[in-house]
Amino acid sequence: MITEVGTDIFKAKTLLESGSLVSIPTETVYGLAANAFHSEAIEKIYVVKNRPRFNPLILHVRDKNNIKSYVQEIPEKIQRLIDIHSPGPVTFLLPKSSLVSDLVTAGSNQVAIRIPNHPLTLDLLSKLSFPLVAPSANISGFVSPTSAEHCMQGLFGKIPYVLDGGLCNIGLESTIVGYDFEDNQVLIHRLGGLSIEEIEKTVEEEVKISIQHSHPNTPGQLKSHYATKTPLKVSKTTSMISQFGSKNIVVINLFQKIDGFQGCQFVLSVNNSISEAAQNLFSVLRLADDEKADLILVELAPNYGLGPAINDRLQRAEHHHL
Ligand code: TXA
Ligand code: MG
Repeated sequence: MITEVGTDIFKAKTLLESGSLVSIPTETVYGLAANAFHSEAIEKIYVVKNRPRFNPLILHVRDKNNIKSYVQEIPEKIQRLIDIHSPGPVTFLLPKSSLVSDLVTAGSNQVAIRIPNHPLTLDLLSKLSFPLVAPSANISGFVSPTSAEHCMQGLFGKIPYVLDGGLCNIGLESTIVGYDFEDNQVLIHRLGGLSIEEIEKTVEEEVKISIQHSHPNTPGQLKSHYATKTPLKVSKTTSMISQFGSKNIVVINLFQKIDGFQGCQFVLSVNNSISEAAQNLFSVLRLADDEKADLILVELAPNYGLGPAINDRLQRAEHHHL
C-alpha cells in the first residue's frame, strides 16, 4: 500500500467511511483514526500498531453534546472541565453508554472520550456521521508522532492516508481525567497536555493522581512506554556527562546548552518555556535517536506546568532500557 500525505479532508472522510485507517492531526499528537462504529476498522488499528488487544481506545468526538450521548452521566466537576477545556488536551474517563462498543473499550464499562482541538480534525469530525477512535499514530511502545513526517516514519505502507495538519501545538498526549464517584473526587490517570494546576484551578480543589502502572486496562501507563531505540537516562546532565563522557552520548537540555561540551546537544526551548519544551520533546527524542549514539542523556523538567508530564514520558523511556 502506498501512503499519501495531504490536507484533503474529503479524501480522509471517504477512506474512514469505507473502514480504512487515516492518521489525523490533533493538538496533542497525531492519532491513527478509525470509524468507531466499524468493527473491522477498529481491528485494523490493533494489527497496524501491533497493540495489545486489552488496551482500549480513546473516542474522539466533535462537540460536548456528543460526549453526553456516549457516557452515562457527567459529574458536575467533570462538566466544568469539559466546559472550560474542551476542545483541548484532556480526555475524560466515564461510564460508557450503550452506544459505545466493547471493542472500543476493550470490554471495560468505562469509555475514554475527548474533543481534539485541531481545525482540520474538527472539520473532518463535523462531516462524519460517526466518532473516531484514535490511539497515537506510532507503533506500540515507541515515541508518539507530532508531525505528518513522524507518522510516515512509522506507518508508511501500512495505511492509505496521513492528513497533514502541521506540527502539534501541545506535543504531549492528553491528560486522562477520571472520577471517583464515592469520594466525589477528580482523578488524574495520565499526566499530559493539560497541567495539574489548570485542572485544580478549574475544579477549585486538589485532585488525586491515580496512575496505575500495571492496570491491564491502561497499558499506556506501563512503565516502559514512549521509548527511544537508544538507551536513555534522565538526571542532571552535567553530572551524567562526567560519568558517561567516554561513551558516544547525545545530550538534551531544557533551556540551555552546556558550555564546553563538544558532542551532540539539543535544547528543548531556547525561550525558557516549559510548554515549548513539551511541544518539541518527541521530535527531539527522535532526532537524538537518529544520532545512533550509545546513550541519550536528558535533563529533568521542573515540577510545574507541563514539567511533570514531560518527566513522566522521560522516565518511562528510561525504564524501557533498565
Ligand atoms: O492525546 C491523546 O490522547 C492522543 C490523541 C491521538 O488523541 N491519543 C492517545 O491514545 O494518546 P493512546 O491510545 O496512545 O493512549 C490512550 C490511553 C491508553 O493508555 C489507554 O490504555 C487509555 O488511554 N484508555 C483508553 N480507553 C480507556 C478506557 N476505557 N479505560 C481505561 N483506559 C483507557
Ligand atoms: Mg500512545
